[in-house]
Amino acid sequence: MLEAIAEEIRSCTRCALAEGRTNAVPGAGATDADIVFIGEGPGVQEDRQGLPFVGPAGKVLDELLEQAGLSRAQVFITNIVKCRPPGNRDPLPEEIRACRDYLDGQIAAINPQVICPLGRPATQTLLDPKASMGKVHGRRFERDGILYVPIYHPAACLHNPNLRPALVEDFEKLKALLERHLQ
Ligand code: URA
Repeated sequence: MLEAIAEEIRSCTRCALAEGRTNAVPGAGATDADIVFIGEGPGVQEDRQGLPFVGPAGKVLDELLEQAGLSRAQVFITNIVKCRPPGNRDPLPEEIRACRDYLDGQIAAINPQVICPLGRPATQTLLDPKASMGKVHGRRFERDGILYVPIYHPAACLHNPNLRPALVEDFEKLKALLERHLQ
């Protein structure tokens, strides 16, 4: 099911991002993951390799995952758009809409207990179009039996090191939540 969706994504031409991609990036991880991380869209490294979060933001994500006692093999990592927006701009609403069925299909196939939108575009797409990261990060929201825990995008602390403690704290909360929730 998940692999069928990935195959479709790799040959997708539903929006203009298809024209500029080297590789689509469907996502990677456990097909039965309890937790799914959803970023914004592939960057240059991701586009080259066809894998999510393998550039500098991925390095931060790996550190945070390790600290939460999680490995990439245990979780599923994807993005709201599966092809790289040019110059790493935010994905446009029509690109997010064009890609939405893929994300919904992945979530339905995995059926996770917890979803972590990473950063504002993913949080506004999945939770609330008006959400402010400063207000919602690290908090829990239940929708249709799934717990959503929005977290700052790992790249945010590369631009603004002052955000790192908030990210670290949110991953600590996530760790505690997973320990309580998933035992
Ligand atoms: N940033 C994202 O939002 N997603 C990736 O896959 C890589 C960087």
